[in-house]
Amino acid sequence: MGGVNVLDRAGARTLAIRGGKPVNASPVGMISVKLDEADIEAAVGVLRSGMLAMGKNCLAFEERFGQMSEAKHSLSCANGTCALQLAYGALIKPGDDVLVPGWTYIATVSMVVAAGANPIFCDVDPRTFNIDVKDAARRVTPRTTAIACTHLYGNPVDIDGVERLADEHGLRVIYDAAQSHLATYKGRGIGAFGDAVTYSFYPTKNMTTGEGGLVTTNDDDTAAEMKLLRSHGETSKYIHGKIGFNYRMSDVEGAIGLSQLDRIAERTEQRRANARALDAALAEIDGLHAPVASEHAEHAYHLYAVRIDPTAFGVGEDAAEMAGLRDSICEALKGEGVMTAVHYPRPLTRQPVFDRPGMEHLAVCDRLAGTLFCVPIHHNLTDGQVAGVGEALKKVADALRV
Ligand SMILES: Cc1ncc(COP(=O)(O)O)c(C=O)c1O
Repeated sequence: MGGVNVLDRAGARTLAIRGGKPVNASPVGMISVKLDEADIEAAVGVLRSGMLAMGKNCLAFEERFGQMSEAKHSLSCANGTCALQLAYGALIKPGDDVLVPGWTYIATVSMVVAAGANPIFCDVDPRTFNIDVKDAARRVTPRTTAIACTHLYGNPVDIDGVERLADEHGLRVIYDAAQSHLATYKGRGIGAFGDAVTYSFYPTKNMTTGEGGLVTTNDDDTAAEMKLLRSHGETSKYIHGKIGFNYRMSDVEGAIGLSQLDRIAERTEQRRANARALDAALAEIDGLHAPVASEHAEHAYHLYAVRIDPTAFGVGEDAAEMAGLRDSICEALKGEGVMTAVHYPRPLTRQPVFDRPGMEHLAVCDRLAGTLFCVPIHHNLTDGQVAGVGEALKKVADALRV
């Protein structure tokens, strides 16, 4: 990093990385993956039965997940990337232009490319971090057939805005809810909206099946098409009506998922309570901003992304300097016993795989890459740990601000 190193400032001497007393005696981690005894027993029950392939547990899991997220059809699958492939396979065609956010995990967009379609990158809202519908509207052309956007970090997108745009131009809508189990919009489960919604149950997610995924839809034909794609286009035993894949979930995973659904509501409420406590702490800290839930949305807080105002720390707009400040803040927080994570270090337009000559970079996405970091928010945190995160944020910001 050129320019200022904020950790060299006189104020930094109180920090634990400069020999001060850390706020938290033992580290508060970003991730805590714990299976309950009930989950383990459910998995063992399937192992003992010998019926390991997709079966009654997957079906029961699908049905209950669909009900909880207010979707008519619900199909489990091998992981969240396969869920995207099923949705895109049913709803977009090779050669289509598909509107996507420039700020999301790569799978939302890489699977558009895998489906043979062209991603059209759109900028995002600087406060909610989700697709900016006005920017998306500017990019619609006669070739645009769909919008595939992420309910990022647990925060639903501006669904009304997306649906207005889709209605106006006859677009399909696919929501990637890999990070947003049980989020709601206008009091309804997010499964109630769009042409398809996809989920991931990777271990770090709000609920897990080990690896695992699921896709929901409210349309009978889309559900039938995705079901065929999931299992080799098989219309009846060994009769194949179309080319498909094996994207099925195993019944061991289905049983774990079904068991986890007993606690997902309680866990989500715990994450929301943790977020309220951090929001209150950040309201007292100049230069750091709490994440903002979209209007009408109830956030599921998979991640809690803090936004830095670089000017409060005497740092200019240069991308490398902003990222340097962010990294210094994360280093100082680690010293205070608070682990952090950067989701994501680069916008997608700057990923080597997409950053080809002529690629248009996006101002808000570029800025988020230097100014966001995530602090622990998971459902296994104690109130004391959450308070410790808030205190450490205050100590670090007070020490480094100008
Ligand atoms: C937004 C988003 N989409 C898709 C995925 C892919 O899910 P999986 O890892 O289950 O394939 C993830 C996983 O991290 C994600 O965060």
